Amino acid sequence: MKTKKYLVLVATLVLACCVALLVGCGKGGNEPSGTDNTPAPANTTPTPTDTTPNYNTTITYQGKEYSFNLLTPGTITVATSPDFPPFDNLDGEAYVGFDMEIMNAVAAELGLQVKYTTVNFDAIITAVAAGAPADMAASGITISEERKQEVDFTSPYYSSNLAIIVTGDSSFKSAADLEGKKIGSQSGTTGQAWAEENIKGLESITFTTVPDGLNALKAGKVDAFVTDLPVAQNMVASSFSDCKIIQEIATGDEFGFAVNKANPELTAAISAALATLEQNGTLDKLETKWLSDYTSEA
Ligand code: ARG
Repeated sequence: MKTKKYLVLVATLVLACCVALLVGCGKGGNEPSGTDNTPAPANTTPTPTDTTPNYNTTITYQGKEYSFNLLTPGTITVATSPDFPPFDNLDGEAYVGFDMEIMNAVAAELGLQVKYTTVNFDAIITAVAAGAPADMAASGITISEERKQEVDFTSPYYSSNLAIIVTGDSSFKSAADLEGKKIGSQSGTTGQAWAEENIKGLESITFTTVPDGLNALKAGKVDAFVTDLPVAQNMVASSFSDCKIIQEIATGDEFGFAVNKANPELTAAISAALATLEQNGTLDKLETKWLSDYTSEA
């Protein structure tokens, strides 16, 4: 009996303390900002009325501050479809190519780490827009108005054209010969869009990767394959030497890196770093290293 009463008393006291604490908190939170002169701690959880996003990474680059959210604070996670040499490729486990070297240089400029992850090209814009599994994408992505509805783009770092590839023994000479034929392309690319808009009566057949499409071309499953010119030249000069380019298509596509729309200052920081790399000759050097054997001229 005695202990029971005692317990009730303790419980009541504990409850009273909790209520007091809660009321105290509520009061503090409801106070209009500005009446309190103590600076807010760096990592406060925003109240519902707080419109400033709680970014997890802040950098200062060339005297300017940039704040953004990264899946891993301090590390930019970059999606790529590594089937697109000389832009995006795998060398064993390592991601290599023009895009990777530019992104590595950008990250070094900004004092951030960079990590790559594979996403099929036709899912890459959606992945960036969803914010997972990557913060952004570097994948030979052509900047387009349609894609700009879903993601932001950095300033462009390369201009490219398209090309039509056929087998070495094919008698097709240009797009005009391909009407009503089976035309291959990588799913979700500008190559697919161009073929579907410009080759009359085609049967459009898409592939997850560029090599998949070129193997299908060799196997006679498609009559031609459309992809970006430097990639077509790279493939024909290496693994697909039994294929040839019959037509170059001047599209003036511009490549940019795609970034999640909720991270405008990440886009701005990358564009600032790209401007530096352009001015100090790094972009030219990398272009010579990766693309001098190929031309983007149609
Ligand atoms: N430039 C083309 C586009 O944006 C093709 C890009 C394909 N990229 C890749 N890594 N497979 O649609």
